[in-house]
Amino acid sequence: MWIYLNDRFVTEQEAVVSVFDHGFLYGDGVYETIRSYGSRIFMRDQHLARLRRSAEGIGLAIPIPEQQWPALLHEAMEKNVVGQDHRDAYLRITISRGPGDIGLDPSLCPTATVVIMTKPLQPPPPEQYKTGVSLIVANTRRNLPSALSPQIKATNFLNNILAKREAIAAGAFDSILLNWESQLTECTVSNIFFVLAGRLCTPSLDCGLLDGITRDLLLGLARDAQIPVSEGHFGVESLHQADECFLTNTTMEVMPVTRVDGHPVGKGTPGPITQQLHGQFIANRARFLEP
Ligand code: PDD
Repeated sequence: MWIYLNDRFVTEQEAVVSVFDHGFLYGDGVYETIRSYGSRIFMRDQHLARLRRSAEGIGLAIPIPEQQWPALLHEAMEKNVVGQDHRDAYLRITISRGPGDIGLDPSLCPTATVVIMTKPLQPPPPEQYKTGVSLIVANTRRNLPSALSPQIKATNFLNNILAKREAIAAGAFDSILLNWESQLTECTVSNIFFVLAGRLCTPSLDCGLLDGITRDLLLGLARDAQIPVSEGHFGVESLHQADECFLTNTTMEVMPVTRVDGHPVGKGTPGPITQQLHGQFIANRARFLEP
């Protein structure tokens, strides 16, 4: 595998970062996960814009000019022979504060570290879309947004990792994190939606969750289909009353959830609105690919 590191492509063995990198020492960095369908990158500009916002959120200058990113991402795909017909690509951009002496002051690190990894996208197994997945409600709460904004997609992912550990220990697919007021926020790497009496509901951004690119797209598709939508504040009980539930993110698209805390959601099978919206997502996704 070829990795883009700072200013050139290197082999996996050469792709090493200093132990003084503040990404390693303090989790001081930001990242994005992107994908392609064939050779075309999905929601490219939205992901690059979010990367920029995350970097601005921590006062980190991205050393690569904006206009160079599209060609660089394609070069990274071509190097690893991904992002071609029938070989969708997974792309991960990581930008850390870079190497510097120990200490929190970012000015200790004059040069940010830039990494681009590409590999074949491993979509979830098709059975998972048929059976749906199980969630638990984590004891770990989502970070308080005034302490660490969930809009900063940071390389310090411990909040989510602790919730993921709980899911693994419980034998569940993933955890839902509640916020400081016991309202639903999101799962560890995805946004959550549910259907209550024909209405599509999802926690609003002020509950403290990442403004997911797939989430936003899904909300638009639901409105196009004239499905009533509520972005709001919801407790765990709304999930227990829900007829359907699903997760969204870049790699999973729309994943049905059929169990929460061991109880079936609705009939315990992927629901009709979930399937309709996933179908619409697939039918429309070409509109959201780069030219
Ligand atoms: N995760 N919430 C969190 C905490 C996330 O990390 C992600 C993305 C999402 C969904 O965002 P989007 O629809 O833009 O992919 C929601 C990616 C997949 C990751 O961490 O690899």
